[in-house]
Amino acid sequence: MIEIRPVETAADYESWRQVRLAALPYERAPSVAELQQSKTAARLLLIAEEDGVVVAHGGSDRSNEPDRAAVVARVRPEARRRGIGTALLRELTRHAADLGFTIAGCSIDDEGSLEFAKRFGFREYLRQVEQVRRIADEPWPPEPTGYDVIQVAERPELWAAAYEQVAVPTLPELDTTATLDVTAEEWATEWINDPAAMFLAIKGTEVKGTEVKGDEVTGHEVTGDEVIGVAGLLLDTDHPERAEVAYTAVRPEWRGKGVASTLKRSSMAWAAEHGITEIYTWTQEGNANMRRLNEHLGFSYRTVSVNVRAELPLQFPEEVGA
Ligand SMILES: CC(C)(COP(=O)(O)OP(=O)(O)OC[C@H]1O[C@@H](n2cnc3c(N)ncnc32)[C@H](O)[C@@H]1OP(=O)(O)O)[C@@H](O)C(=O)NCCC(=O)NCCS
Repeated sequence: MIEIRPVETAADYESWRQVRLAALPYERAPSVAELQQSKTAARLLLIAEEDGVVVAHGGSDRSNEPDRAAVVARVRPEARRRGIGTALLRELTRHAADLGFTIAGCSIDDEGSLEFAKRFGFREYLRQVEQVRRIADEPWPPEPTGYDVIQVAERPELWAAAYEQVAVPTLPELDTTATLDVTAEEWATEWINDPAAMFLAIKGTEVKGTEVKGDEVTGHEVTGDEVIGVAGLLLDTDHPERAEVAYTAVRPEWRGKGVASTLKRSSMAWAAEHGITEIYTWTQEGNANMRRLNEHLGFSYRTVSVNVRAELPLQFPEEVGA
């Protein structure tokens, strides 16, 4: 007997997470705290229980397009082909349609799930590719000239400056169907999870306390607050040996000067020093510049994810002609 119900308690959130880890073992899952924090008025999270055991989950939420809900049903591999995915999709898309969404979108990584989605009218509109890099001995890049590289942990207040000075001007360049609508609050909570693993390139406006001892320069302190680039890692507490590459961007006037690769190489050197053996990143297929930068840094390709969408309300096969 399958029972589908909304996530309520911390234990429910943990069950929801466990299904995600089982269905997407190669990807970082948000923590219970992150899931609770990222709650929106439009979001519905469901779990499906069979004889008290959670076998599947679902989610429906707003997306970066005003008319489109982001919807996903995931079923543990051992519980598939028994109608649970269909039952979840029915509840999730009904919820989204009730809120006024006219389109449902979803991201799919395997052929079987794509077949499932096509049954309900979902069609491909975008692809994302996953690039993966093994981490071994990674040297720190040479000290740059003209700008400095620091960890957000050294100047946490600059993460908000990075939003205004780097994220806001560069997010519209992402190859999505609509500009990613990222709020300052989301930037502060969802786009960083450890300030030690996040790097900023800053243009110093003043350098204080420099002492020259022979050939050695000490006491170097950057007091500038102009952020010109960001790159770093999102750590994975379930799998500390791997990390996801966070948003990488450089302000247009600073491009072509090696800023992004210096930042990325810094995060790779940091990763090597912190026991991380693999980093991975998702890039829109059309974002040739980012893919090339990653190729240049030694990334190779792994999974291809297909973004699909369908008009709401969905047509369920048994309802067609009923
Ligand atoms: C996609 C997914 C949710 C399907 O869950 P499910 O409970 O197995 O799906 P259902 O039993 O309701 O399948 C309904 C129909 O979809 C089609 N279908 C489902 N999985 C399929 C597969 N692997 N290959 C081909 N067709 C498939 C079949 O027509 C199936 O009917 P049938 O079993 O009578 O032939 C599940 O495979 C999954 O969790 N995938 C990973 C997550 C994901 O990509 N979700 C995206 C969907 S929004």
